Amino acid sequence: MSEVIIQAKALYKSYQTGHTEVPVINGINLSLHRGDFTVIMGSSGSGKSTLLYLLSGLEVPSQGEIWLEDKPVHSMDEAMMTLIRREYIGFVFQDFNLVPNLTFLENILIPAYLVKNDRSVLKAKALDLMTKMNILELVDRLPSEVSGGQQQRCSMARAIINDPKVVMADEPTGNLNSSSSAAVLDILTELNQQGQSIVMVTHEVKSACRANRIIFLKDGQIEDDLSFADDQSIEEKEVTLLQWLAGKDW
Ligand SMILES: Nc1ncnc2c1ncn2[C@@H]1O[C@H](COP(=O)(O)OP(=O)(O)OP(=O)(O)O)[C@@H](O)[C@H]1O
Ligand SMILES: [Mg+2]
Repeated sequence: MSEVIIQAKALYKSYQTGHTEVPVINGINLSLHRGDFTVIMGSSGSGKSTLLYLLSGLEVPSQGEIWLEDKPVHSMDEAMMTLIRREYIGFVFQDFNLVPNLTFLENILIPAYLVKNDRSVLKAKALDLMTKMNILELVDRLPSEVSGGQQQRCSMARAIINDPKVVMADEPTGNLNSSSSAAVLDILTELNQQGQSIVMVTHEVKSACRANRIIFLKDGQIEDDLSFADDQSIEEKEVTLLQWLAGKDW
């Protein structure tokens, strides 16, 4: 098995609502491996998004440890965490999260400008990614002037422009129609085939079959963990996954 790229140890997260503390992640131990396409499933409210935010350093755990390779994210200050997050994580949100008054090209370049300063090289890289994502003709458009599928492809280009070690996606196809969803999943699959590590939250069986491993969350704990065999086709994975999900609450 390939090396561990992200590790969670005895992870807990609770939110304060009024005077009560609501536990959301309840003792998760998890190792994610380089090159894997890992999917997180589970019913609404089971803690999928919270876990993804914790693993990416966007949320701070109440207890426990998060390691990105040999970097202890849980004990970093905010400034250090921001630097590490830029190097390690590209994040894709369900609702795209593009900056409304910036063009497609400008949106893609935001994280790149934070890290490096050779603007012409970065611009060429952004245009190359836009070509691969089939959105090159939209360079000067604002997010409000294009479809959801096109916005999500822009947001994926933004997520990968700094060559992050892991791409994290929280229901990236949740707001898309089926053909746009397929295009987004095809891009993630191709990135993974090129070696990109991916962690994706999804409710959809068809989307989950793009993964090689599925983690199932229930009440903030890992209830089950499935790895597909290397030689399984998408159709075979779907049968395996539906059997595995039978009796689970999702
Ligand atoms: N910032 C917050 N403050 C208080 N409670 C929160 C906060 N974020 C999440 N929660 C609660 O934590 C629980 C888990 O939320 P989370 O968003 O991780 O679930 P999820 O599995 O992603 O659900 P969904 O499938 O609906 O997206 C929910 O009960 C939610 O209400
Ligand atoms: Mg969620």
